[in-house]
Amino acid sequence: MPAFDHIRLTTSRLLLRPLYAVDAPFVLALFTDVGFMEFGTTAPFASIDEADALVERDRKAMVVGERIRLGIERVADGALIGICTLFDMDAQSRKAEIGYGLLTQARGQGYMHEALLALLEYGFSELGLNRVQAEIDPDNIDSARSLQRLGFGKEGQLRENGVVNGVVTDSVSYGLLRRDWKLTA
Ligand SMILES: CC(C)(COP(=O)(O)OP(=O)(O)OC[C@H]1O[C@@H](n2cnc3c(N)ncnc32)[C@H](O)[C@@H]1OP(=O)(O)O)[C@@H](O)C(=O)NCCC(=O)NCCS
Repeated sequence: MPAFDHIRLTTSRLLLRPLYAVDAPFVLALFTDVGFMEFGTTAPFASIDEADALVERDRKAMVVGERIRLGIERVADGALIGICTLFDMDAQSRKAEIGYGLLTQARGQGYMHEALLALLEYGFSELGLNRVQAEIDPDNIDSARSLQRLGFGKEGQLRENGVVNGVVTDSVSYGLLRRDWKLTA
């Protein structure tokens, strides 16, 4: 995979771009946001050090083309409102997993749909992916709606696939193929 540290994707209301050291306060705000963390597999961040470490880990991973994590910046006021990622990239199978999340205050305005349209277009057109998949908590209704709006199909239930807030839970798997994307994009 190519280096991802210079990616900038624009939509009518958003700029998707790498996170920088100065964005650590936003990362801390996101990873302590109760709505964002509700179905998360990690504990809320306890300090800015954890946010700094995430930004630095991402920077290194993006430089070597290991994964993409982009901050979602609202053009109107320059505020970061969320993140979206392509990870577990498999060049041989031309597939990747997608992840995403918004600050609670930025929900319900179509920002994530707009951002993911741009990220998926990049994945299918620029990276040549054939498949993008997602695994979500069965109770994560908002996330399921986001995937379905983008054309993802529900493919199955993975039993006891994760631990959310200390509780063993199933995951629901979703997939979107390049040929389905061409139909919806
Ligand atoms: C998943 C998540 C991003 C979905 O957020 P969201 O606000 O529902 O998604 P969008 O930003 O795409 O907004 C869509 C909603 O805005 C509404 N909307 C309002 N104005 C809009 C506009 N101008 N354009 C498009 N949609 C608009 C849509 O109708 C839709 O509402 P609905 O679902 O009630 O029909 C959010 O719930 C989240 O961050 N959850 C926590 C993290 C998480 O669980 N991530 C998934 C696991 S990886």
